[in-house]
Amino acid sequence: MTFNPELCRNESEVESKLIVQYLLPQLGYTPDTWHQEVAVGSIRLDFLAFAVQVIPFVLDVNSPLSVVMEAKHPNQNLDNHVRRLRHYLTSLNVKYGLLTNGKQIRIYQKVKNDIELVFHCPGKEINTRIDEVKNLIGRNIFPQEQLESNHKIQVSQSLKISTQSIYSSSFELNQRKKSMKTIAIYHNKGGVGKTTTVVNLAAAIRKKGKRVLVIDLDSQANTTFATGLVKFDDEEFDDIQDSNIFHVLQSEDYYPISEVARKSNFSTSEIDVVPSHIDLMKNETDLNALDNSRLILIEKLEQVKDKYDVVLIDTPPSLNLYAKIALIAADYLIIPSDLKPFANQGLINVKELIKAINGFRKNIRRPPIETLGVLACKISTNNQFVKHTLPKRIEVIPKRYGLNVMETVIYEREDLAKCAEKTQLVENMEIADPVSVIDFKPDSTSAQEFELLAKEILQKIGML
Ligand SMILES: Nc1ncnc2c1ncn2[C@@H]1O[C@H](COP(=O)(O)OP(=O)(O)O)[C@@H](O)[C@H]1O
Ligand SMILES: [Mg+2]
Repeated sequence: MTFNPELCRNESEVESKLIVQYLLPQLGYTPDTWHQEVAVGSIRLDFLAFAVQVIPFVLDVNSPLSVVMEAKHPNQNLDNHVRRLRHYLTSLNVKYGLLTNGKQIRIYQKVKNDIELVFHCPGKEINTRIDEVKNLIGRNIFPQEQLESNHKIQVSQSLKISTQSIYSSSFELNQRKKSMKTIAIYHNKGGVGKTTTVVNLAAAIRKKGKRVLVIDLDSQANTTFATGLVKFDDEEFDDIQDSNIFHVLQSEDYYPISEVARKSNFSTSEIDVVPSHIDLMKNETDLNALDNSRLILIEKLEQVKDKYDVVLIDTPPSLNLYAKIALIAADYLIIPSDLKPFANQGLINVKELIKAINGFRKNIRRPPIETLGVLACKISTNNQFVKHTLPKRIEVIPKRYGLNVMETVIYEREDLAKCAEKTQLVENMEIADPVSVIDFKPDSTSAQEFELLAKEILQKIGML
């Protein structure tokens, strides 16, 4: 059996084709001796292999050989991942770590509180050098007494994991994979509060200590503006045109999210934003012609799964390709709505789109998108309305449309409109300086509503 590095075009192919199908069997690790997606405390390992079968396992000085294997996307520079590997090996007391992006393969050995490179070769040479790798981390080279120390291993309550069979389908792998959660904010009607929700929810989730990425998939680029990325007031100085979400979607190999995302300053704690651009509109046809355009965002998000906890995607008020891309890539969906008749009628389209998207997701072995609910937005604060009309409007949503309504209500508040329109004077020029309502007026009712919303969402997606 040989390995061809050309076969690995993304991180999951490095995992499946290089590690699962080639390295682990070549090195003598049977499916019962290695584990995939192992969480130990705050650390998540791609693979952990043992010289003997140990379930549940413990990692301590008596542990039989253990090797951590970390797979990266082929366009990732391995140098950027060495520090993290050192942290894994030293804090978990694992002797060897294999780091690969398919193109390069490196093996590090733990030496006291540091790690040393003990082997490296280009992916395409692995077939001829596999014996060297076997001599280092092969399962069979470990002294018998070390294997026998297995008997002394105690059952650990805290580190129980289940074995991941080599035969498990990619559907299962996808489900287990990540802790990063992606939420699309979508309704096909405009003006219902999608962008306002994305921006202020991002700030509220960030405030809870989560690392947040915002992706603007609407060619109107309102989120890009509201997060303060539009720093020019003359198109001659447009620095977004050449690097925005379109580039992310149109190239499989270039424009990773890590390059296109920008640091924003609409929130005191840093939030990265992938901007949009009006050009998205005219480029939709080009993108539509690309067979796999719908899948690229999934892969590119996979590459940043260790960098962010929550990704929020703003979407266009339409049923177009960009809306579809968002719903294909997201784990969860929130549907902002003012609960007025037109928005309600639009819910029928939203439901049909969800159905079509779930059909597509099934074909690519991706679990269905989970709808967290309709979010009541821009709701009038008039007393009589809140008392009598609002409950009825909320009630009809599950009855008529079969959709949940989120508990938190975002009322129509002046602060919310104002904070997005904030400006700053720089050398006599008035430039946009939008901030989130959490930063604009932290004690305002509106800020509190978004904090409640963040809490509700984090609870629903299992992050609180
Ligand atoms: N809860 C709210 N209170 C006050 N104004 C709001 C509220 N939600 C949205 N707006 C305003 O309504 C307009 C449309 O909201 P927006 O979030 O851009 O909607 P969408 O993204 O769905 O088109 C914006 O001018 C925004 O400032
Ligand atoms: Mg919008």
